[in-house]
Amino acid sequence: MIPSVLPTYTRTPLNFVKGEGSWLVEQDGRRFLDLGAGIAVNALGHAHPDLISALTEQAGNLWHVSNLYTIPKQQALADKLVEASFADTVFFTNSGTESCELAVKMARKYWADKGQPDRFEIIAFEGAFHGRSSAAIAAAGTEKMVGGFGPVLPGFTHLPWNDFEAVKGAVTEKTAAILIEPIQGEGGIRALPDQWLKDLRKLCDDTDTLLILDEVQCGMGRTGRLFAHEWAGITPDIMMVAKGIGGGFPLGAVLATENAASGMVAGTHGSTYGGNPLGCAVGLAVMDHVANPRFLAEVNRKAGALRQKLEGLVAAHPDVFEEVRGSGLMLGLKCRVPAGDVVKAGFKQMVLTVPAAENVMRLLPPLNISDEDIAEAATRIDKAASSVEATAE
Ligand SMILES: Cc1ncc(COP(=O)(O)O)c(C=O)c1O
Repeated sequence: MIPSVLPTYTRTPLNFVKGEGSWLVEQDGRRFLDLGAGIAVNALGHAHPDLISALTEQAGNLWHVSNLYTIPKQQALADKLVEASFADTVFFTNSGTESCELAVKMARKYWADKGQPDRFEIIAFEGAFHGRSSAAIAAAGTEKMVGGFGPVLPGFTHLPWNDFEAVKGAVTEKTAAILIEPIQGEGGIRALPDQWLKDLRKLCDDTDTLLILDEVQCGMGRTGRLFAHEWAGITPDIMMVAKGIGGGFPLGAVLATENAASGMVAGTHGSTYGGNPLGCAVGLAVMDHVANPRFLAEVNRKAGALRQKLEGLVAAHPDVFEEVRGSGLMLGLKCRVPAGDVVKAGFKQMVLTVPAAENVMRLLPPLNISDEDIAEAATRIDKAASSVEATAE
């Protein structure tokens, strides 16, 4: 019999009923150190007092109003994002997938309005993950993502990761946009070198191609800058955001330049819940923290500390771990044994990590994780690795 919850996930039998900072409490009372943070969602950890008060205060005033009216907190959050980024304008969504849909639509509409409706091709990359809608799975392009869901949305070209010559050769007069994650998350914490992003920006400028960055996982302070592309000193034309921006409340956004967004006039796109007052109240409180340079400096300091500890674990367990990857608090341990085994061994030590492609174990802790919890994380992963070694012997 089919379970009452559609069985699209393989779930670990852990039932968390409470969260406090970087910790999750199981219903049996056990406390787990959460280095997954809802897969890069709980940017400020669990039950942050500022997020609780933002949400409860808004809940006491107004839950929902249609986008047929002005929503003051939506306006305020858009203003804050515009002020803090390359963007001139913002559309709010409820998820990364919806942000992908709009990013693709926006790029295609841009060229259609310029009298070039055949310029609809989107260049995407192997190992990418942009969500689960028809456009997002077409962008990923793998059999795993699109198999059985055909006909696949046309107009996507897939290139190898980190091969600039391939990109140069693939841009044609039909290319509307290049869509890429500055750091692939699901793809195995694969970071693009800064120079690569710089070259990509230049290629887009030279060929008049729109650059769409997917910062759903790597944005909102995760790498120690508000947005990951800032490290390379470039800006996109369109950017997808979600996950961390709501700190656990479903919220996403598409940020764009005035030029890139020029086709999206009244009636071309919409969302019942996107920019809802509850989500935007929380988003504002998240931004107050993560857009603060002092907060970002702390993310960088803590990222350095965690990375150093992880390098130590690689040295201590060369048969389990191969290398540390990633940037800021978006880190991965590439494993020599199946990463899933190490993640499972972590459950026994009550530490939560997330597997990714390329046999990588992901660490995406709350951005405000404490120094003590970083030390505790290393101790628990160390024990998990030792237990994996012991079973292999
Ligand atoms: C880079 C990236 N883009 C898009 C998505 C899709 O986001 P959502 O699951 O909120 O639809 C994800 C989710 O993991 C992601 O990591």
